[in-house]
Amino acid sequence: MRILLVNGPNLNTLGSREPEIYGTTTLDEIVAAVTARAAALGADVRAFQANGEGEIIDWLQREQGDAAGLIINAGALTHYGIALRDAVAACGLPAVEVHISNVWRRERFRHRSLLSPVVTGAIVGLGAQGYVLAVEALVQNIHPAE
Ligand code: DQA
Repeated sequence: MRILLVNGPNLNTLGSREPEIYGTTTLDEIVAAVTARAAALGADVRAFQANGEGEIIDWLQREQGDAAGLIINAGALTHYGIALRDAVAACGLPAVEVHISNVWRRERFRHRSLLSPVVTGAIVGLGAQGYVLAVEALVQNIHPAE
């Protein structure tokens, strides 16, 4: 079982980017933690980060055929990326939207998510741990407990 892990613009700078908001965990550490948790659950992870919407869409279209689920933190694209939303809706995968920060406690422009209506669920404001919770939720959704 393969899980896709997508991070959008500026998330490559996690660790040094506004640490008071996003913490000090780097994206490499997040990918390693998600990969380790997925492995313990019998899944493997393919991870991708890009700053451009088109690059993310191209990658998703390439990878979706072999995948069972999607974890996505689209960064600012969450709030205005209609083409990315369409790609997530079209991929047909169970998907979890992750935000490291609690977007509801921040500026009003972060209160709108174009992704939320087309994903299975969202994890918001729990820091880097949100990604690990997402992989657990996703694997359980794909293989519900008997
Ligand atoms: C974010 C929240 C977005 O509003 C912001 O543009 C990001 C990161 C988060 O993980 O908290 O880049 O998605």
